[in-house]
Amino acid sequence: MNAQVIQGLQRWRTIRSTLSGSIGFVPTMGALHEGHLALLKRSVSENDATVLSIFVNATQFNDRADLDRYPRSLEQDIAHAQRCGVDFILLPDHAELYPDDYRYRVAEGELSLALCGADRPGHFDGVLTVVMKLINLVRPSTAYFGLKDYQQYRLIKGMCESFFMETAIVGCETVREQDGLAMSSRNRRLDADARAKAGRLSGLLREARTDEAAKAALTAADMQVGYVQTLEGRRCAAVTLESCDGAVRLIDNVIVDSVDTSEMPGGESR
Ligand code: PAJ
Repeated sequence: MNAQVIQGLQRWRTIRSTLSGSIGFVPTMGALHEGHLALLKRSVSENDATVLSIFVNATQFNDRADLDRYPRSLEQDIAHAQRCGVDFILLPDHAELYPDDYRYRVAEGELSLALCGADRPGHFDGVLTVVMKLINLVRPSTAYFGLKDYQQYRLIKGMCESFFMETAIVGCETVREQDGLAMSSRNRRLDADARAKAGRLSGLLREARTDEAAKAALTAADMQVGYVQTLEGRRCAAVTLESCDGAVRLIDNVIVDSVDTSEMPGGESR
């Protein structure tokens, strides 16, 4: 059966009221790649119906140029989703999702300020707010998120627990290119030279003995390091690469053994 593409939220709410059985939900910002498709396939295999949302969420971009440059490929995205067996594709617009003009927002006071949150002030308020809105609209049994964005996954899981939300949050391992580069919509903006450098990111993170050593290795490989920090046994990093299309920021994380994370914000004591 073909997926139904739904633009108006009122139309979606009418459809939602007719659905029973388990609903799996995969929120995205579009420009779908194999990483997104893995989440969709898992949801389709585990639920009676799967909802995909595509919404480039302005409130999580602290840099206007980054928002404007974000890749968009709606027609292709719909075709990919159809092939995965998605049932509903939600395409909300900003005005409908933010009737309050973002006066009401969800904020977390600790982990959201570290790592990507330190680099991108306000980023996770935007993420948590839109995910809360989407989950309230979709009312899924389970929502699927990629562990590539480990900090995002942890914050969303924490939000659902803190607010007694009934959706289960499932994390799915990172899908990678052959050379180890984590798939990302932003990879499309890398020129050949930057793409070759980016392929070394995950290997250098994995091989280093400490976060400091990883930082040095990435810098030596011509990547500008935003941070390298281990959170709950995952060495997380953000780097920026110069490409002909401007600077491209990439994030990734790899599992590392035997590190002490107890001092980290949001670390193992939670
Ligand atoms: P987006 O970057 O489009 O990612 C949508 C989902 O796909 C996220 O859960 C992300 O972690 C997952 N994903 C991305 N690349 C992946 C990969 N290589 N392997 C596995 N999963 C991957 O993350 C967002 O959108 C937004 O912040 C969102 C949660 C939709 C809120 O606006």
